Amino acid sequence: MSGTPVVLGIETSCDETGLGVVAGHEMRANVLASQVDIHARFGGVVPEVAARAHVESVRHLTHRALSEAGVHQTDLDAIAATQGPGLVGALVVGFTFAKSLAWALGKPFIGVNHMEGHLYAPLLGDPAFAPPAVVLLASGGHSQVVHMKDWGNYEVLGSTIDDAAGEALDKTARFLGLGYPGGPAIDREAADGDPAAIAFPRALPDRPYDFSFSGLKTSLITYVREHRDAGTLPPIPDVAASLQEAIVDVLVDKTFNAVDASGVKVVGGGGGVMANSRLRHRLQEEADRRGVALFVPPRDLCTDNGAMIAVVGAHKLGRGEISDFGSDVDAGLTL
Ligand code: KG4
Ligand code: ZN
Repeated sequence: MSGTPVVLGIETSCDETGLGVVAGHEMRANVLASQVDIHARFGGVVPEVAARAHVESVRHLTHRALSEAGVHQTDLDAIAATQGPGLVGALVVGFTFAKSLAWALGKPFIGVNHMEGHLYAPLLGDPAFAPPAVVLLASGGHSQVVHMKDWGNYEVLGSTIDDAAGEALDKTARFLGLGYPGGPAIDREAADGDPAAIAFPRALPDRPYDFSFSGLKTSLITYVREHRDAGTLPPIPDVAASLQEAIVDVLVDKTFNAVDASGVKVVGGGGGVMANSRLRHRLQEEADRRGVALFVPPRDLCTDNGAMIAVVGAHKLGRGEISDFGSDVDAGLTL
């Protein structure tokens, strides 16, 4: 390896086939085959369909990523792939493809925790991002407040005790007939709505870092049914903005509880929900008020992608953390 490591990253944990190439912290390519249209007609991700779609995309996307990066496969210093958490059949496709490619090329293979990818994503947006930091991870499967003490050294301070933030958005959007995925649909509707129109509950006020979103979903469904029947339902943009505000309020509150308690000066964000306009705005307001630096990556690096897996791979390679070719996926992997 000469100087800056060049790493290919492969992400196939859910419904996006993501291939990225980095040189150290620098993103050289990030290409994606989204399966959103395929799953939209089912109203959610169908695991077997996702795995098959990854099989169809992974090889040609690898060629595209390498060609965009201007890198020949023999120039790679390592190949990294998501090991978990995620859908087991989907994970196996990228993980096995990466191991086979690494073996054939005689390169190191590195298994990467998907959530660690989201933790590193702010670095791709701005190389100044560095621990110690508090990072909010909010995606379709997770909502966590993480104290990132160092690269590779994390303490999960709090998590959701039921649904993840993205899951709550997806389920409520589906109920409201706004389509799939729900997060972007709620974000769009809410732009013209009044966030104070309906006072939806903010759960677990006594637990500083934990979340609960399933009661919010029930509360919205009950509210809409009652008011629809009575003919007193506010316009959908108001419903969407009020729901979004209830979710954003707790995500922001609990992140900054951790910032205040730990005294860190750096706040990061990762995961698909971090693409939300209102959440980005509110996090920035709170960060500015406290004089701490906020690092939220561009929207396409908040959602699942290969570059975030590649950049973790580059770090792990630097630390000599190479995976065994006998290693396997772990659908329930934790940070
Ligand atoms: O990180 P991600 O791409 O996949 C998982 O690892 O889960 O996150 C997907 C989640 C979905 O729930 C989606 O509705 C949500 O991120 N999402 C958003 C926005 N864009 C995507 N939520 C709120 N506002 C958005 N703009
Ligand atoms: Zn994700």
